[in-house]
Amino acid sequence: MIFLYYKPLKNKLPKKLISQNNITMSNEIAIELKSITKKFKDLTAVNKLDLKIFKGEYIALLGPNGAGKTTLVEMIEGVGKPDSGEIKILGLDWKKNETEIKQKLGFSFQETKLIDKITVLETLNLFASFYKKQEKVNYALLATNLESKKNTFTVNLSGGQRQRLALSIALLHEPEILILDEPTTGLDPTARREIWNILFSLKQKGLTLILTTHYMEEAEYLCDRIMIMNQGKFIAEGTLDSLLKKNKMGERIEFSLKTNLKFEKFSFKGLKKFSYDEKTKSGFLEVIDIVSTLPIFLKFLSSKKIKLENLICRKMTLDDLFLNLTGRRLDA
Ligand SMILES: Nc1ncnc2c1ncn2[C@@H]1O[C@H](COP(=O)(O)OP(=O)(O)OP(=O)(O)O)[C@@H](O)[C@H]1O
Ligand SMILES: [Mg+2]
Repeated sequence: MIFLYYKPLKNKLPKKLISQNNITMSNEIAIELKSITKKFKDLTAVNKLDLKIFKGEYIALLGPNGAGKTTLVEMIEGVGKPDSGEIKILGLDWKKNETEIKQKLGFSFQETKLIDKITVLETLNLFASFYKKQEKVNYALLATNLESKKNTFTVNLSGGQRQRLALSIALLHEPEILILDEPTTGLDPTARREIWNILFSLKQKGLTLILTTHYMEEAEYLCDRIMIMNQGKFIAEGTLDSLLKKNKMGERIEFSLKTNLKFEKFSFKGLKKFSYDEKTKSGFLEVIDIVSTLPIFLKFLSSKKIKLENLICRKMTLDDLFLNLTGRRLDA
């Protein structure tokens, strides 16, 4: 199989959604963290983090299991308390302004516990009664495309519908800031895309979003800024392109061969890294530019009369960057 994947993901998305990503953000600060730290006994789960998030900005916290994402967002949500540091939400402080913050902030947990034998509508009515926002139930149903499911027991919802109901609950009081902890983990691509579309239309209304995720394409597609987290620290931040550029991430050619070959003194201009495993007859080249280096590689194989089994050409991804920075994969 010869597979040339060389288009950035955004080129594959419907144009309408792409244009929605060009919302201008305000320079007013929605959330400010100063040196936030949280320890669990000897483990520092969140380590002196600073962050400013602007109104209207969509931020992704991307990192592997145990990176500290949930610990961090739960402190912003007022669910957990930092050991030290300062959290300001729209200039307000959890200690002094709890009621005001609760009006402005909506969130959903990594796992949402729902009551099985009540319907979607009854669930929303129940949560709306806590907020005294009964009139917003229809808005929340519509915003998350759950109208047709309003009389379904929550136990009978699909994974994607459950996540949309969790989102619906978080939206009941029309918050200015939304925090979602892995809203699409375990969902199939269609269900994931439905959530993305909902979050896209909420961006039009000026919502500020923090989203934790393990999926780089989700971070890339939805968010203005990506914060890569590992062991309680931000280890890189920026847009996907700026992250890859800043870290001098080039492009990658992966291949396998029909017959083995000794790559002795294999080197040429533009080749940053080369690896070949004789056992699997496969390897990769990290190059500055595929277009100029691929012909050199193919010519070399041809001169040795070697045939390709597989060839994949692609841009480096956040996953490659993460591996370079930490020696671990994002999904590890
Ligand atoms: N209540 C707790 N008591 C002790 N340790 C905890 C507690 N909560 C989290 N931790 C530890 O803190 C670290 C960060 O956990 P956290 O849940 O924030 O990671 P995460 O990035 O959300 O991971 P995941 O992607 O798996 O959800 C982990 O090592 C975890 O075991
Ligand atoms: Mg988590």
